[in-house]
Amino acid sequence: MMHDGLETRFAAACAIAREAGVLARKRFLERPRSQRPDFKGPQDFLTATDAEVEQLIRGRLNELLPNDAFFGEEGGGSFERDVWVVDPIDGTANFARGIPHFAISIAFVRDNRTEIGVVYNVMQDELYTAQRGRGAFINGEKIRVSGLADIRQATVEAGWSTRLPRDPYIALVDRLKAAGVNVRRAGSGTLGLAYVADGRIDAYCELHINSWDVLAGLLIIEEAGGWANNFLAKDGLRKGNPVLACTPELAEAVIAATGIAKEP
Ligand code: IPD
Ligand code: CA
Ligand code: CA
Repeated sequence: MMHDGLETRFAAACAIAREAGVLARKRFLERPRSQRPDFKGPQDFLTATDAEVEQLIRGRLNELLPNDAFFGEEGGGSFERDVWVVDPIDGTANFARGIPHFAISIAFVRDNRTEIGVVYNVMQDELYTAQRGRGAFINGEKIRVSGLADIRQATVEAGWSTRLPRDPYIALVDRLKAAGVNVRRAGSGTLGLAYVADGRIDAYCELHINSWDVLAGLLIIEEAGGWANNFLAKDGLRKGNPVLACTPELAEAVIAATGIAKEP
């Protein structure tokens, strides 16, 4: 038995994701229907719940594992050898508009390698979990990527944000469409990746995304037998990178269509 603390951390991440989910769900359901969303900037939504949920996760991890570093999208933090990387609500635009498609993403990274990934799809009560080398699960049941090989039958989520100009995004969607793909965008990169892991969709791509959006989802895909680009290369942890992840049968075709390579 190895005493690397990963078992303890995995159990903690699962329990904390569920507890944070109870809070996020409560805040979502009690949100006044008449309320218009607040904005941080164009297409950038602000909700008090993001900070509140992050605070809960940060506090619980700090109680249980005080020597681990923490980085959250809302409050920042530091990246050290052992670090938790957290997005308290991924899909904030959906949350703010009353659309029940958002998730909590918790990843544990050791020496620039993700060891634990937990994604909680709050309104569907679906907990996606993975520990490196141990497989991927949804609510305890094993999951696998779709296995689809024909890109003309594929559904691919193409994520978008205002961090990049719009032309490259439009060109990317155009190339996927030309290849025969059903392109979708549902507004949560984290859940897009979780859906690749359990075969609901066949690939996820985005020209720039941050580590807190993807690290948990990427480990879950890897453990579900999927293929992913080397997101953590070139300081992806701090700066983000392009992301591409899919069922392995489609890797060559989606690399060609998206222009996103294995190495960033
Ligand atoms: C965003 C969502 C979106 C993705 C963006 C992210 P947020 O995160 O994951 O789907 O396309 O790149 O920034 O703002 O909802 O936490
Ligand atoms: Ca996010
Ligand atoms: Ca977020």
